[in-house]
Amino acid sequence: MDVLLQVRNLETWYGPIMAIQGVNLELRAGRIVTVLGANGAGKTTLLNTLAGVIDPFKGQVLFNGQAVQGLDADEVCRRGLVLAPEGRQVFPFLSVRDNLGMGAYTRRDAGIRADLERVYQWFPRLRERQSQQAGLLSGGEQQMLAIGRALMARPRLLMLDEPSLGLSPILTKEIFQIIGRIRDETGTAILVVEQNAAVALAHADDGYIMELGRIVAADACDVLAQKADVRQSYLGGGQATGLSGTAQRWKQRKTWR
Ligand SMILES: Nc1ncnc2c1ncn2[C@@H]1O[C@H](COP(=O)(O)OP(=O)(O)OP(=O)(O)O)[C@@H](O)[C@H]1O
Ligand SMILES: [Mg+2]
Repeated sequence: MDVLLQVRNLETWYGPIMAIQGVNLELRAGRIVTVLGANGAGKTTLLNTLAGVIDPFKGQVLFNGQAVQGLDADEVCRRGLVLAPEGRQVFPFLSVRDNLGMGAYTRRDAGIRADLERVYQWFPRLRERQSQQAGLLSGGEQQMLAIGRALMARPRLLMLDEPSLGLSPILTKEIFQIIGRIRDETGTAILVVEQNAAVALAHADDGYIMELGRIVAADACDVLAQKADVRQSYLGGGQATGLSGTAQRWKQRKTWR
């Protein structure tokens, strides 16, 4: 299968603070890949660096064989690498429909209307509420809108930063089922950062685990889910010490806003 995304030795700093270092990652077309890790592990930094929101200090991001590191976020988006950011970030005073329209701002083609229809098929609740202000949607509906808006950019690789944040277990499962359908029906590859390791490992093909800005494990999700240290640190099987042996707290459940 074709390699869609190849990340080599990526390193990103915030001023004097190093957030990620030596990150290598590979994602093949049509795959669902998850990145797991504790608070502050560098997951959001990784996605923001891939999306061109932050420039890396060093390393390479090859998307479709072309280097995209250092490009502006809108150019990266235009090439098909699209991020639905952490915390949804919908435009609260715009309607659902207009929020979805904003997702297509990099496009000039005639397929936008058909794609809007497709988003409404995946998320019927967004169709029902298309005229409503986005800020008045429930948390789960806003998450659907954030994913729908990213889909309107017609991604080849859709990156989702904690889609289950603040959602009930049932809604989390529903969101992951829809993520699976989107991949199956369109072939879109998906890179999903998650706090809910059990759900992510059950729905993704391949997984990476980050600790303190580095990748410490990478494997097929079913293999990862069987590893004793992964079970212990990430699947609630005991004292969370992390795979690298450094004591750290596992995710405290973040609530939205
Ligand atoms: N804008 C920023 N300025 C300075 N430091 C930052 C900034 N954003 C993140 N950091 C630091 O970089 C590190 C990685 O943060 P990041 O947000 O990527 O982690 P994360 O894995 O997404 O965490 P969470 O699970 O809590 O979302 C942390 O130590 C964090 O404090
Ligand atoms: Mg984060």
